[in-house]
Amino acid sequence: MEFDPSKYSKTSFDSLGPATKLIRIIQKQNIDVNQPLRIVDLGCGPGNSTQLLTESFPRSTIIGLDVAPEMIEHAQKNYSNERCNFYVQDLNVPFDEWKSTIRDLFRTKTVDIIFSNYALQWIFDPFILGDSIRRILTPKTGLLVANILYSDILSVVDPNDQRECSMLEQYLRFPNEQQFISNWIFGLKNRAHLNDIWIHYWQPRSVYPERYYNECM
Ligand SMILES: C[S@@+](CC[C@H](N)C(=O)[O-])C[C@H]1O[C@@H](n2cnc3c(N)ncnc32)[C@H](O)[C@@H]1O
Repeated sequence: MEFDPSKYSKTSFDSLGPATKLIRIIQKQNIDVNQPLRIVDLGCGPGNSTQLLTESFPRSTIIGLDVAPEMIEHAQKNYSNERCNFYVQDLNVPFDEWKSTIRDLFRTKTVDIIFSNYALQWIFDPFILGDSIRRILTPKTGLLVANILYSDILSVVDPNDQRECSMLEQYLRFPNEQQFISNWIFGLKNRAHLNDIWIHYWQPRSVYPERYYNECM
């Protein structure tokens, strides 16, 4: 799968609405948003949602991570500043295999908030990411807010079309919603050691503009 920032910004996918909802969730927590927090944006893409973090937390430092060099180049060019920087990192690999320069960012100082807007659906093993989260998030007080795209796309595929079903299943790597959710809960609980896990459901129709939903979903 290729991620191209120019194509990304031309789709009618509105990532800023959901990103704003995530920021509101952070603002409602028992956290002083005017203190100098350290925030990481996982799968930051072209950096436009990271920019919302920079604006919403005016004394914080932000680190954006994404697997796609083109995305990071775009983000670095348009949104980096003295409080915000972007780095290429594949989050599907175990933390000990992350680039040493990136691991060093977390060696002496962990992060207060991990944010992720529509990227974690690309993480195939929540246990691996859960372990990385534990390594970078401040124990006990650290907060993770994320939305993960789940499209029950198999429900619109002809169940008798074996070829298409197995292709999609392989591509999505999660055969059903129940398994998808429980994998994330166990990954975040057992590996990230997060104690309070709140799950909030959004229907895809509320995220995508109507025309895009009808054409693509
Ligand atoms: C739908 S975009 C969301 C981008 C951004 N968070 C936003 O709100 O606009 C998904 C992002 O996940 C990134 N991604 C996919 N697989 C990844 C991986 N293994 N590690 C890190 N980032 C990944 C993609 O490069 C892409 O930028």
